[in-house]
Amino acid sequence: MSRLRLQRMALPVATALLLSLATPGAAHKHHSILDEDEANKPVDSILWIHIFLQIIVWGFLFPIGMVLGMARSKWHVPLQSCGFVFTLGGYILGHSHGGRSFLAGAHGVMANILFAPIFLQLGLGIYLKLHIHEETIRPWAVRAHGVLGKAYPILGWLQMLFGVIAFRGYCRGGALGQCLAHYIMGSGFIAYGIIMAIMLLVGENWIRRSKRSPEWWDSWVIMLWGIVNTFTEHHGGDWSVKDMQHTVMGVIWWAGGILGIILARNNQVSILAITYAAFSTHVTMSLKRTVVPALIVIITGWAFSNHAQALMISTNVHAMVGYTLMMAGVTRIIEVCFIAPKYTPLPETAVADDNRSEHTLTDNTSNASAWQTSKAFRHLPPFLLTASGVLFMSATDEELRFVDGEGMDHVTYILLMFSIAFLIYSLVVSLIRIWARLSENASSSTGDGSIELSTASKWYAPVPGTDAEAEAARHVIGEDD
Ligand code: HEM
Ligand code: HEM
Repeated sequence: MSRLRLQRMALPVATALLLSLATPGAAHKHHSILDEDEANKPVDSILWIHIFLQIIVWGFLFPIGMVLGMARSKWHVPLQSCGFVFTLGGYILGHSHGGRSFLAGAHGVMANILFAPIFLQLGLGIYLKLHIHEETIRPWAVRAHGVLGKAYPILGWLQMLFGVIAFRGYCRGGALGQCLAHYIMGSGFIAYGIIMAIMLLVGENWIRRSKRSPEWWDSWVIMLWGIVNTFTEHHGGDWSVKDMQHTVMGVIWWAGGILGIILARNNQVSILAITYAAFSTHVTMSLKRTVVPALIVIITGWAFSNHAQALMISTNVHAMVGYTLMMAGVTRIIEVCFIAPKYTPLPETAVADDNRSEHTLTDNTSNASAWQTSKAFRHLPPFLLTASGVLFMSATDEELRFVDGEGMDHVTYILLMFSIAFLIYSLVVSLIRIWARLSENASSSTGDGSIELSTASKWYAPVPGTDAEAEAARHVIGEDD
């Protein structure tokens, strides 16, 4: 059995090794200084293919494959094997392009570092397919493979960003600080939006198991981020207006974060309420939600919208980042106060019960249309956070000077960035749905056609998505939302 498996794995492994061995041979010379001529040559087709191939592999193939792995689909291994072969092909193209030249930088360094997760994941995957040490080492290998696998979208995002930076020659010299601020913070907003979308679509039972409301987690992240910002935004010398603004932004985050943590703590529930809940069948205890993180997002948005910039286009784009953030905050407040489910804590014993859990949109469960409205509305905060992140990442001086030089105005540019945000959010929602759907099928099937299952843990149960889907099926005739 394992011999057959070994034979099946031999092809992708051999291809991968061959490609990687071929890579140094194809290497082009690296530049520490560039002359005008080299920097302005047209980009050759090999580099264009490199860019599109790697975007497809790291932006789509690996994330879809990751979801298939989490759902134990039989397509996981073939898809990821293709991904490895294509990305290693992309490595060769990256090294062997002609045409325009670029300064050596983070993209090349990171590409070498990425060999570690690539070969580690490949090795772990092959080991898992061998089915040895089932009772001892294998469960740990599944965990390691799972953690590393879920880091792939983040690694891909980073390397694609470095690719754009290499392509445009951004972030050198004095521009580095601004790049770091915009790319870290912008990526942070996008990540916040994605986590919110996951919680909205499939994470309800995770939240209930954690026995903390989403705002408790939000407030902790905001507070810790605030502490970092407070001490990292001034680098000696005189305090500029920007230094002061950025530092006080850190202060407001940790100050507000503290209030959020206090208000979202569950032990605020009074003894009286607990006793009442214990004796009443009509009262459900719910996790404490608070509007404080949303308020902080609104205040942060207001600060952005008033952030004067050197270029007019830059001031306009920053203003739009601000308005989008403020809208994200306002919609979140509406969601927390009027739309959201009451998250009731789940007992430890309910770990594997995700598909049958009782939905907690307490007032709405009897009303399918109200449930649909609430579902639709709840996409607003995560989408707007994603959009503000994309806009913020696209608002560095270097980028906007380039856009201005191309004769584009802020309206076109902002619409372009919103389009990118729609695409990113579409991808995220699709991945979540593929996972929910496949997990549902896997749990109802007899097991043939899916790869092996491991035991569920407190934080990872195979089918957390289905309660939302099942809920929809229970209430709606036809397509779910
Ligand atoms: C050819 C290479 C690969 C092979 C042979 C492979 C094999 C496997 C196998 C057998 C499982 C099921 C483990 C079990 O439950 O017993 C699995 C799960 C998984 N794989 Fe892969 N895999 C490969 C590449 C990848 C890559 C590149 C990623 C990342 C994008 C990835 C992400 C995952 C994830 C997230 C899981 C679920 C783990 C969990 O739920 O904890 N795999 N893989
Ligand atoms: C995400 C997966 C990617 C990987 C693993 C990757 C890997 C590589 C590698 C190994 C090189 C050769 C580096 C060197 O010569 O030292 C390279 C070059 C390059 N890549 Fe990528 N790349 C990826 C995505 C992208 C994207 C999305 C873009 C652009 C939008 C891009 C733009 C470039 C450029 C401009 C070069 C030429 C740099 C030079 O000549 O020094 N790459 N890439």
